[in-house]
Amino acid sequence: MSTAKLVVDGKEYEFPVVEGTEGEHAIDISTLRARSGYITLDPGYANTGSCKSEITFIDGEKGILRYRGYPIEELAASARFPEVAYLLVYGHLPDQDELVDWRRQLTLNSFMHESMHNFFDNFPPTAHPMAIMSSMVASMSTFYPGSGEDETVDENIVRLLAQAKTIAAFSYKKSRGEPMVYPLTSYSYAANFLRMMYATPAEEYDVSPVMERALDLLLTVHADHEQNCSASTVRMVGSSQANLYASISAGISALWGPLHGGANQAVIEMLEGIRRDGGDYKKYINMAKDKNSGFRLMGFGHRVYKNFDPRAKILKAACDDVLDELGVTDPLLDIAKNLEGVALEDDFFVERRLYPNVDFYSGIIYRAMGIPTNMFTVLFAIGRLPGWIAQWKEMREDRAGRIHRPRQIYVGKNKRVFKSVSQREHVESAPRPFATWSYDT
Ligand code: ACO
Repeated sequence: MSTAKLVVDGKEYEFPVVEGTEGEHAIDISTLRARSGYITLDPGYANTGSCKSEITFIDGEKGILRYRGYPIEELAASARFPEVAYLLVYGHLPDQDELVDWRRQLTLNSFMHESMHNFFDNFPPTAHPMAIMSSMVASMSTFYPGSGEDETVDENIVRLLAQAKTIAAFSYKKSRGEPMVYPLTSYSYAANFLRMMYATPAEEYDVSPVMERALDLLLTVHADHEQNCSASTVRMVGSSQANLYASISAGISALWGPLHGGANQAVIEMLEGIRRDGGDYKKYINMAKDKNSGFRLMGFGHRVYKNFDPRAKILKAACDDVLDELGVTDPLLDIAKNLEGVALEDDFFVERRLYPNVDFYSGIIYRAMGIPTNMFTVLFAIGRLPGWIAQWKEMREDRAGRIHRPRQIYVGKNKRVFKSVSQREHVESAPRPFATWSYDT
């Protein structure tokens, strides 16, 4: 076994080097603090492995993504989302019987508890569907308590996967003030969702195979991405032994931000902004290069991928196909391609190794499918569910696992003596916390 040596204050410490199955290396510093009193400082955790995992492998230099060993390109071309979900959660591809049963469970469990419908009535019509989604998933733990227990874990996993699409479609209906449409057990996972979005009690909706396939593909490419911000959040929350629903609800909230899953909405808003501004995409490239502008090219860059994001490659090709098959022309697609073309030639992006990520083209496909912009991240969340669940399950089954609890380096004030308010000096520079309020002391 190879080791790594660290010398601090003239003292030498030796640590084991851990090797993954794909040859990745890590220095196991889990005994560092106990032995030396030192901790490591790694803001943003860019160099910190938080766990060992068997779920997903990424090689960011080579643009490799594999779920349980299967390349994303093969799964995207040949598998369907429910079997990919099974693969991620249970570690192997389902055989014929397992798949039939799994699909059956995913449709039979699609119905929400009837009392949950009341919650929808009390969200304001302008509520963002990600807020509804996160709240509703957390509230499932009130209807199905004990979701962290061994005996019920599998039934809660399937219930969550099955109901997520119903919750998502209902939140869309709510935002339009339309009546809810119940799932049909004869439909596939993706088709059920689309039907619940677009059918009305007055009119049935025929799900086109192109739309069904496109959604299935989008869900599949989003299904897991190892220790990203939301998956780490799920593990962080779950490490306190919080139940499945509470942990996943936290993951949904983490995904919402524009630097993570919320980027798919932000990309379309950016492209629309460029179009409204006359289509001058080069101006926006220059803005992205100017640190003072506060503007970033949304859908570009990735913490791990440094040459290309294989999911973006799949979706760029799918984008052309889906728009073609649906007979949709979208001027935003041209703007996106122009932006990408210029950025890939520009030194600023080349030097920083910034490439389109999964969110750059996904929004254009969602738009072509008629999905409103504020639902994009919800669809990402539905796709990512199997990954979060697999991460939560793996963490929970690791009996040697500990509660997640990073350390810090304190850089605040040293010990001070407390003074009563009449003895305190006025500090000019201190901002008033509630500057617009006045109240008697
Ligand atoms: N536009 C312009 N400049 C960028 C961008 C961008 N999209 N992304 C990174 N940079 C620059 C940074 O300013 C920084 O420059 P510097 O070295 O001169 O200071 C350098 O590239 C490195 O960027 P970091 O922010 O340090 O990279 P990090 O790994 O922390 O962040 C992230 C990755 C959040 C994805 C970032 O690239 C970004 O903000 N992208 C836009 C938002 C986005 O698309 N998010 C979705 C990611 S995929 C996903 O979560 C599903």
